[in-house]
Amino acid sequence: MKLFDVYSLFDLEPVRAKGSIVVDAKGREYLDFYGGHAVISIGHSHPHYIARITEQLNRLGFYSNSVLNPLQEALADKLGEVAELEGYELFLCNSGAEANENALKMASFARPGTNCVIAIAGAFHGRTSAAVNVTDNPRIQADINRGIDVLRFAPDDGAGMSERLAKGDVTAVLIEAVQGVGGLTRCPPPVLQQLETACRETGTPLILDEVQSGYGRTGKFFAYQHAGIRPDLISIAKGMGNGFPIGGVLIRGARFAAQKGMLGTTFGGNHLACAAGLAVLEVLEEEQLIKKVEGKAERLEHILTKLPGLRRVKGLGLMLGAEFDFAVGPLRKQLLHEQGLMTGSSSNPNILRILPPLTVSDGEIDAFSDKIHQGLTQHLATSVQL
Ligand SMILES: Cc1ncc(COP(=O)(O)O)c(C=O)c1O
Repeated sequence: MKLFDVYSLFDLEPVRAKGSIVVDAKGREYLDFYGGHAVISIGHSHPHYIARITEQLNRLGFYSNSVLNPLQEALADKLGEVAELEGYELFLCNSGAEANENALKMASFARPGTNCVIAIAGAFHGRTSAAVNVTDNPRIQADINRGIDVLRFAPDDGAGMSERLAKGDVTAVLIEAVQGVGGLTRCPPPVLQQLETACRETGTPLILDEVQSGYGRTGKFFAYQHAGIRPDLISIAKGMGNGFPIGGVLIRGARFAAQKGMLGTTFGGNHLACAAGLAVLEVLEEEQLIKKVEGKAERLEHILTKLPGLRRVKGLGLMLGAEFDFAVGPLRKQLLHEQGLMTGSSSNPNILRILPPLTVSDGEIDAFSDKIHQGLTQHLATSVQL
């Protein structure tokens, strides 16, 4: 049987990895400043992560959500503690799209009779039905997905969104505090604060999509925490399992009451996923990784701002985008194959996305600097010759 051919692939086959280094089938090493698409939070193959998952697998890998699973409670407690959150309850699922799907569903349960969502230009929220409907990309939406009236605003249009919210018929606001796929555009903190007020005044659930920006990537546990707001629902995934598929929705208990059967999943919150999720939180705490993000980000930004052809640096913390005067597709390929440097892309063709594991060392950031300088010099020389 052939694979359903939906991915554009690089000619690279990783077979093992450690920390920020990935090794391919030919034994060549790559410096991973892509983090498997912002997924690798505590570094590849962290010993505590391996031990925690292995130990769990030797006991019990899976049972369904019809039995007691204290690991889920331990994960919820630890998450509340490390993220410094009170008053939220955790629903566990398997991916970012599923987290947003369930968050939108919770909002809709609380707002019967409404069917419109405020979302942001360039937003990416996943590929399941409601999540892809709210995503700003018609090419990945099928007719069957178009069930919600999406009201699209610029990320800095706090006044426009507040005015629309005042009509009182909006189901939810769904927003990334720092966009990932959209190209590292930030929703300015004053706009997030304005939205929080407008949502509270109109009783509209405010959903923060922290699937990519959460788990410390921006220097706080959640990117919205830079604005000091308190969302009603928070969706999480990527960094949560360091590669093990796990997602979740944090649901503000004061606003939403759980009812048996209102949400559910077969695999969500299974024993192995919880062990992975706990290991990640334990390492984040033990190694004080979130506190170290700001210093590492400064070092990285300093390097990026000096690059030839750079227009600007976007994003926050270790979720950065280097925007150039030219489309970066060929440069990305060249960095990968000639410099052994993995980077990401975004819907803005001129942005090189930089998402290293939070464990990245200063030495690795300096190695990144050498690689990107060499790669860029070579790239610019070749483009001038052409
Ligand atoms: C902000 C954001 N939300 C949701 C998703 C969807 O997550 P998943 O691919 O796990 O469904 C992504 C994935 O890139 C994302 O960046």
